Amino acid sequence: MTYNLAEKTWPMIENYLKIKNSILLSVGSTEQHGPTGIIGIDYLSSWEIAKKVGEETGTLVAPPLCFGMAQHHMAFPGTMSLTPVTFIQVICELIQSLYRHGFRDFTVVNGHGGNIPSLNAAFSQILGNDEECRFRLVNWWHLPEVQSYENKHFGDKNGFHATCGEISVTQYTHPEAYKEIPKLKFEATTSEHPWPLSPIQFRKTFPDGRMGSDPSLATAAHGEEIFKIAVAAIAQKLRNNTKG
Ligand code: NI
Repeated sequence: MTYNLAEKTWPMIENYLKIKNSILLSVGSTEQHGPTGIIGIDYLSSWEIAKKVGEETGTLVAPPLCFGMAQHHMAFPGTMSLTPVTFIQVICELIQSLYRHGFRDFTVVNGHGGNIPSLNAAFSQILGNDEECRFRLVNWWHLPEVQSYENKHFGDKNGFHATCGEISVTQYTHPEAYKEIPKLKFEATTSEHPWPLSPIQFRKTFPDGRMGSDPSLATAAHGEEIFKIAVAAIAQKLRNNTKG
């Protein structure tokens, strides 16, 4: 059974709200992921994970937000970004829409590190109005269960952007997309750098878009494992009502 809000009618949502006020939102980004990672990784991974968590826990899932705060990736073609102010406003207005209907418990499954400060700012903005709701922010790649798998299999070659883990997950969820992408060899180098970086500074520092990863280690088989680990960990948080 689907728990995708987009595939329900309004009376179905009204009935759901009589017994439950929780909802999952997935937030991603549309941004470069190195020469071998697809541009939609951050929203596709969080959306697929959120949908599965919804099915496993009987929780509605709002349509995905495909865009986030990705300004530092703007020197790479294909990246589409909101500014932090706009992104915060979009999150606030979407959550307030759901709040108006009676949703009170919001779990945000996030796929992009650059979104974290803005998501927390949006939650503070909403809570500042004394609205009685709770937020659980789950950055799926930060889950200890996911990190332990990635450390074991990729070590320090996982990197920080265009990671082996996130590319693996989308190789599993979107295998067709990867058929057209050539296999390349990489060196996983790390460098000291200030943060945040402007688009031009980012491209100078990380010329092919990766940050310290060797994405040639990514496989769909790893992706399936990471996907299942992330879904199980988030579903457990929802069942136990523990924080993000
Ligand atoms: Ni990413």
